[in-house]
Amino acid sequence: MKYIVGNQKTYLNFEDAKKFVTTSFPKNDKVVMVLCPSMPYLSMFLGKDFLVGSQNVAFQDITATTGEVTASQLKSMNISYAIVGHSERRAYQKEDNETLAKKVSLLLENEIVPILCVGETKEERDQGIEMQIVKEELDSVFRMQTPEKIKHIMIAYEPIWSIGTGLVPSKEDIDTMMSYIKEIGHNYQSEVVVLYGGSVNAKNIHELNQIPSVDGYLVGGASTKIDEWTQMLNTIIEEER
Ligand code: PGA
Repeated sequence: MKYIVGNQKTYLNFEDAKKFVTTSFPKNDKVVMVLCPSMPYLSMFLGKDFLVGSQNVAFQDITATTGEVTASQLKSMNISYAIVGHSERRAYQKEDNETLAKKVSLLLENEIVPILCVGETKEERDQGIEMQIVKEELDSVFRMQTPEKIKHIMIAYEPIWSIGTGLVPSKEDIDTMMSYIKEIGHNYQSEVVVLYGGSVNAKNIHELNQIPSVDGYLVGGASTKIDEWTQMLNTIIEEER
């Protein structure tokens, strides 16, 4: 079984987003499809043939926090996933590992699967410290949780230099990092599901499907094009045994 999670970021205006909810996508028990639309469209995406995730959540669950969406609000809408710590939020909103650990705790308390994004910059990879960066990002969240809770956290390995650039690490490098992340999970007596993210599209998904340690994908740009998204779903369904 493979996961395919669409992070639609702020790509779609309302009219284009509506087209997504009137399309019927290929469905099969070999693929779990999750779409994470922009916040204002969340309720419109519910009740379809796919699961819905939020792109973010507030780091505190209080009733007076203007402009935020809390974990308990998401739970009350039956939202099942939430992306946490995307590199764009780490960069633009200056979210740090401590804040992200709080977000993950709140999501788990509300039985929402956190999709925790980790990954290194180009400079960090050039310095050969990508493992260290990913380990720090994982440890800061995992050390706050019990093994039972960690099992419910999904990890998305997204090298920052690969997001939206068309650059994808080699299959060997992806496999090395995926296996390392799973090993870190084992250090906490947990099995974690690991997604690859960064320039995944209809052209390269077949190649990426050959990497056994990849449990699925977090897709940005290509998740906003109905034809391409459908093609990717079909490839996974055909190739997954
Ligand atoms: P991309 O984005 O697929 O457009 O590279 C991935 C992401 O940011 O999650």
